[in-house]
Amino acid sequence: MQIAAENRVARQWWQPAWMAPLLVLVVAFIAFSIPPYLSLDPARSRVPQTEGFAPHYPLLVAHVMFASVAMVTGCFQIWPWFRRRYLGTHRMMGRLYVFGGVVPAGIMGLTIGAVSPFGPTIRASNVLLALVWLTCTIAGFRMARQGRFIEHRRWMIRSVVLTMSVITNRIWAVIASIILIPQLPTTFGGNEAWMVQTIAGLSGWLGWVLPLLVAEWWIVERRPTPAT
Ligand code: HEM
Repeated sequence: MQIAAENRVARQWWQPAWMAPLLVLVVAFIAFSIPPYLSLDPARSRVPQTEGFAPHYPLLVAHVMFASVAMVTGCFQIWPWFRRRYLGTHRMMGRLYVFGGVVPAGIMGLTIGAVSPFGPTIRASNVLLALVWLTCTIAGFRMARQGRFIEHRRWMIRSVVLTMSVITNRIWAVIASIILIPQLPTTFGGNEAWMVQTIAGLSGWLGWVLPLLVAEWWIVERRPTPAT
């Protein structure tokens, strides 16, 4: 019922209003983030190698590739106009989102996340994010398989919000850098590693926890109220 109501509202391809800006952000993010990893040259990586863990770079590259699949397919999956028009493609692309995107990218994110060179705060964030991302996505997939489409929709909203949280992560990283870099000689006593780890930790946690809270609020707001 809820999905039918939404479909009636979103008749045009550009509805809802956040859809086009999201597509633009995703294209911009991928165009900026992926090229260094397509070269397969570790020297071009924006993440330094974790010492003593040889598979770090190959896993990072594979993570970036699978995560890009999740990001692009995730956009199409939540686009009401596309879903209404191409339901068969929505089902196929949903499998690609789960098994060709989130599951491999999440398992690799979990592995390299646990040994991140950016310190323990971001390691904890990465591991928890990967586990929550995988859980929401698999729950959403199982709900669809069982024909429980209201729950499917709710779990997949959480999943796609977490997929897109990589963008908010980078926005927080810029904000934290602008605020904290001038404090290197004061707050951090000149210790650059401490400052970098603080920026990474803050952007990691804020990047996904805040969007997930907003998604929860959105889901509760749109829950049909029982008749009194
Ligand atoms: C939502 C779950 C995700 C987790 C747990 C995760 C985890 C990680 C980890 C651990 C790293 C290495 C940096 C570090 O050690 O902290 C990394 C890097 C990276 N991830 Fe993810 N990631 C996720 C989602 C995504 C998504 C959806 C994309 C979209 C394409 C993405 C793109 C990247 C890129 C491009 C890098 C390399 C760093 C850079 O060049 O900016 N990740 N990720």
